[in-house]
Amino acid sequence: MRIVMIGSGYVGLVSGTCFADFGHEVVCVDKDQRKIDALNEGIMPIYEPGLEQLVAKNVAEGRLKFTTELESAAPFADAVFIAVGTPSRRGDGHADLSYVYAAAKEIGQLIRPGAVVVTKSTVPVGTGDEVERIIRSVRDDFEFYVASNPEFLREGAAIDDFQRPDRVVIGVNEPEAAHVLNEIYRPVTTNSAPMLQMARRASELTKYAANAFLATKICFINEISDLCERVGADVGDVALGIGMDKRIGSSFLNAGPGYGGSCFPKDTLALLKTAQDHDASLRIVEAVVAVNDSRKRGMGRKVVHAMGGDVHGKSVALLGLTFKADTDDMRDSPSLAIVQTLQDAGISVRAYDPEGMANARTMMTEVTFCEDPYDAMTGTDCAVIATEWAAFRALDLQRTKDLLKEPLMVDLRNVYSRAEMEGHGFRYHAVGH
Ligand SMILES: NC(=O)c1ccc[n+]([C@@H]2O[C@H](COP(=O)([O-])OP(=O)(O)OC[C@H]3O[C@@H](n4cnc5c(N)ncnc54)[C@H](O)[C@@H]3O)[C@@H](O)[C@H]2O)c1
Repeated sequence: MRIVMIGSGYVGLVSGTCFADFGHEVVCVDKDQRKIDALNEGIMPIYEPGLEQLVAKNVAEGRLKFTTELESAAPFADAVFIAVGTPSRRGDGHADLSYVYAAAKEIGQLIRPGAVVVTKSTVPVGTGDEVERIIRSVRDDFEFYVASNPEFLREGAAIDDFQRPDRVVIGVNEPEAAHVLNEIYRPVTTNSAPMLQMARRASELTKYAANAFLATKICFINEISDLCERVGADVGDVALGIGMDKRIGSSFLNAGPGYGGSCFPKDTLALLKTAQDHDASLRIVEAVVAVNDSRKRGMGRKVVHAMGGDVHGKSVALLGLTFKADTDDMRDSPSLAIVQTLQDAGISVRAYDPEGMANARTMMTEVTFCEDPYDAMTGTDCAVIATEWAAFRALDLQRTKDLLKEPLMVDLRNVYSRAEMEGHGFRYHAVGH
């Protein structure tokens, strides 16, 4: 199949590359000339394990190309995927669909008869109808199809998730579109991932419902962890105890500083806006958004409290900045609110992150960015683990203790055990025990 991917960010680049690896002919398009130039030189615009090698392999084998010129590729494509950003619209929290609609308008002038336009971006229910209307307004002389194919990959494990998904969801209103998408995904669906075919609107909503449910799980265990701290229970035990129940499931039950990243924050908000527009009440999701917002600053206050409350002029080493490990994505990372809370209390922050510092520099002020975790901890009053990078799981604890002014660690990801840390003479604060 010949595929065009519009948008070469996290989702477009990973999806396009994996489609090429399935054996399809793929052209990834992006408006950002620098991104495309870099990709053509083999330089990845994002950090994602395994991506660079997979891109190189598929470029070398002639199945994967990068361009800024949609017009050179779209006329030959069997399917044109839209994978552009859908950030929160400034001011009201609705999904900003301007990039999706702009892409639809461009596609309309370029597609061939019978082509399938597939929205892979996360878009509110009904967006496919509008995409279809936009294309039809410039292209009423032949048949084309508009489908939905939401993406469930996780940053940091994106390639594996794409190649071995739990399921593939396609939202199609015509059999022709279903046929093309079935062909495209055959390599994964024959390897036993179920292909769920449904109507376009159901598919659009499935993505938001999935993210809202996962965000709910995170907020649920975070609130349980607060209760654990009050009553002297260990949230790790509770999470294990409930997670082994198949009806609950063990993933997304790690207590921590709250969800962040490029999806859950904006998607929970956008879902609420959709519900409001349709006079439907989503009070659980409303509560989730509120719980998560207050959690992030709450983690900053937890550090202040651990440092004794009188913190003006003190310093903290923040280990980890990205919203989770194995990504360089800083969008809506809890560390942004944590840093702000610490600075508001008069604490100076030294920070280190294995991959996120280039992005963090553009989003944080008056933070000293350091060479490595030990550089960050040198002469500070407290070490805070904010992201669960592997590099922080095996710190040299004696060296850590020697570098800190006080042997104080706040572990917001429960990377260490209390027994281990106290055994090394640390004052140790974790989440939920
Ligand atoms: N990041 C994730 O983990 C993830 C997971 C699942 C779904 N999604 C969804 O996928 C979509 C894309 O997310 P992302 O994180 O990849 O975004 P991103 O910001 O990393 O990438 C979007 C890219 O689209 C390009 N672009 C915008 N308009 C364009 C146009 N008209 N033509 C060509 N290129 C254009 C931008 O230059 C940018 O490179 C969003 O709707 C998001 O919610 C993201």
